Amino acid sequence: MAKLIKKIGILTSGGDCAGLNAVIRAVVHSAHQKGWETFGILEGTAGLLKEEPAYRVLIPQEFDGTVMRMGGTILGTTNKGDPFHFPMPDGTFKDRTNEIIANYDKMGLDAVIGIGGDGSHAILRRLAQAGGVPMVGIPKTIDNDIGLTEASVGFDTAVSVATEALDRLQPTAASHDRVMILEVMGRDAGHIALAAGIAGGADIILIPEIKYNLEAVAAKINRVQATGRNFALVIVSEAVKKPDGEPFWVTFADGQKRYGGIGNYLSEQIAKMTGSEARVTVLGHVQRGSQPTYNDRLLASAFGVKAVELIEQGKFDRMVAWKNREVVDVAIEDAIAAYQEVDKDSTLVKTARGLGISLGDE
Ligand code: F6P
Repeated sequence: MAKLIKKIGILTSGGDCAGLNAVIRAVVHSAHQKGWETFGILEGTAGLLKEEPAYRVLIPQEFDGTVMRMGGTILGTTNKGDPFHFPMPDGTFKDRTNEIIANYDKMGLDAVIGIGGDGSHAILRRLAQAGGVPMVGIPKTIDNDIGLTEASVGFDTAVSVATEALDRLQPTAASHDRVMILEVMGRDAGHIALAAGIAGGADIILIPEIKYNLEAVAAKINRVQATGRNFALVIVSEAVKKPDGEPFWVTFADGQKRYGGIGNYLSEQIAKMTGSEARVTVLGHVQRGSQPTYNDRLLASAFGVKAVELIEQGKFDRMVAWKNREVVDVAIEDAIAAYQEVDKDSTLVKTARGLGISLGDE
């Protein structure tokens, strides 16, 4: 028989995205209906690495509808500091699993809901197994690369922001006879660029999953110009490499590396090869920080309610997922293993080609 639940914890982990607060709201309301209390763990696993666990009790009155509309996460989050290999101030690395579990135990929780991407799910699952913690996962990531779910919280909003960026770039491109290049996030997956490129009327979409060549890119721009159109829109995923296979990185002062720079490279090459004037917009974190779209609010709400239901049923080590218009649950282990990049034969790739959009590989 499932254990009697009284107190559950919830934490957001990894990079933030729109819709996290809508998930938290759904969990708090749904848990309250069952007579449970919800404890929000602050700053992801970092909140359990402090002297005392950092948390606050989340009450339904706090979630009157305002919070659901807000981007970010009211709990805070972290996407650095692997707890199994944690960088210490003296330059050494330490496995801090035991500290996290000790602090979790202090909170006296009956189960925990972890909201995260594939990396966070892997970390949280390992911690849960080490500490015997009953855990349920909720997928969120603008990258939409978690396996076994057709959608993750945050993706829809990021695509909407990127689409709107193309909408805004088009008139200025047309006014100045320019090629506009929009560099978008997505880490190693091209889902954002592909979806926003189609929705935003791009002429060229470059994604890491499809190898491009510069001649094809230049030829497409020339073809567009030959039709009498004076501008072109290009959208490129941040992880797209140089044709020789070299990725573009930005290294920050603390040594962390992130993708970035392909847009500038393309702009120089396009200008050289076509004689067009080219400009670059790097959309960056704007994609993460908006009000969630209605789709993300719906997904977040369905996921939150389902996660609470799984806890009630005693179904742990599971991640909620979206499949065939329904919320279902899958093994966290399987979801992590089934990393989801863009399928080169997918409907959206075929749609782009059918529209005459260049994917740079003709
Ligand atoms: O995984 C989400 C994501 O926004 C990626 O698309 C991007 O590459 C990365 O996080 C940026 O990380 P940070 O917020 O640490 O700069």
